[in-house]
Amino acid sequence: MIIYGGSEGTVLATKVAKLLDAKLGKIEITKFPDGEKYIRYHDEVENEDVVVIHPMGLKPDELFIEYLLICSALKDGKAKSITTFVPYFAYARQDNRFNPGEPGSFHLVSKIIDDLGIDIIYTIDLHLQRVNDLSELIKKTPTKNLSAVPDIAKWIKDSAGLKNPLVIGPDEESEQWAKVAAETMGVDYEIMFKTRYSATEVSITTKEGKPLPVNGRDVVIIDDIISSGGTIIEAVKLIQEAGAGKIVVGCTHPVLRGKTPFDSALANIYDSGVSIVVGTDTVPSQVSYVSVADVIARTIKETL
Ligand code: R5P
Repeated sequence: MIIYGGSEGTVLATKVAKLLDAKLGKIEITKFPDGEKYIRYHDEVENEDVVVIHPMGLKPDELFIEYLLICSALKDGKAKSITTFVPYFAYARQDNRFNPGEPGSFHLVSKIIDDLGIDIIYTIDLHLQRVNDLSELIKKTPTKNLSAVPDIAKWIKDSAGLKNPLVIGPDEESEQWAKVAAETMGVDYEIMFKTRYSATEVSITTKEGKPLPVNGRDVVIIDDIISSGGTIIEAVKLIQEAGAGKIVVGCTHPVLRGKTPFDSALANIYDSGVSIVVGTDTVPSQVSYVSVADVIARTIKETL
């Protein structure tokens, strides 16, 4: 087996190769003077099982093209199988046409990926709100969604020193992650309800407008992505009003971009009163304390 990391996946691929004692592939990724990507692998891949670890984090357009080029080159090289891990999937949040004139971006991305002839695509805590399963979009290629939430919840349980915590999902969709985190920590959970007005503006309410049962309790907010930080900051306001103690936030994908290029989502979240923010390395960040290398290595071990 040969494991390759795309340009945002180099560290993860190295960790996974070490965990599995597997060969780390040599891949050259550069740019032509006009900005086009150039990729070339330097291994004999014919009849080999190859794994590509390719988060499409903070440069989604560029990394999407890079993914297509890497997979296509390996396919041409007659690899026996191509297994890809796309921990942060570009365009997944645009899984619908929200307004007339929009392109249905994730449908388009899915169609292009489906033509590559990959054997399986693993995602991690993929943001799909309006379809039940990625197979409704990527129709030919098998896909499977993994989760980093048990590892995040374990980290919080072991490291955050919380007293009688309640897990809270800041919107309806996050119930799937809040439930798993609560089970892992052996505590209960609640969810909140979100209305989104724009990419950065949201409002949050509680069930029937009632205060959350957090008076005197510590709280763990769990979500898949923190992007502008708007969701977390709005949720924190209501949690504090209800008398919570320490507030810890866990997410899989710490995009942490803020509302403008000069804004820091992380600074704003800490400023709102949160004690600890923890994310994973699907998007390398200052708070990527949990690595998804373990979940990727476990999956490879069980399937290849
Ligand atoms: C969907 O709404 C997601 O689960 C996250 O809650 C959202 O992407 C977070 O975005 P932001 O940090 O910009 O509120």
